[in-house]
Amino acid sequence: METWNDAYSVGVREMDEQHKRLLGYIGALGELLVTRDDELMHELLARITDYGRQHFEAEERLLAQYGYPLEGQQCAHESYTEWMAEANFSAIGGTLALRDIYDYLRRWWTTHILGEDMQYKDFLNRRGVS
Ligand SMILES: [Fe+2]
Repeated sequence: METWNDAYSVGVREMDEQHKRLLGYIGALGELLVTRDDELMHELLARITDYGRQHFEAEERLLAQYGYPLEGQQCAHESYTEWMAEANFSAIGGTLALRDIYDYLRRWWTTHILGEDMQYKDFLNRRGVS
């Protein structure tokens, strides 16, 4: 499920590439459920957080550039960022299981890409962005 496939394409190559990379990181995190490497887990969580932030900025910048209504996206991005800040903190304290973080990330990203992100596909494609 965390593997990117064409059904996840939002019709904008740059965004697809970024989503692919994020799903790749989440897939790598899923592998840690078996291998249990704490150091790598913290490294990956930091990367998912940082790269997620970069992606949100790039996405919001692109959408703003074409006058797409940003509220829904900003709201979703903010709640994710808050959850991840908490998750990073809890993971360090060992109070939140990797399984829960992984499940949340997998669910959040697929729901977000297929939901809010998919909604800008036609809007941007009609304006020549692809
Ligand atoms: Fe996105």
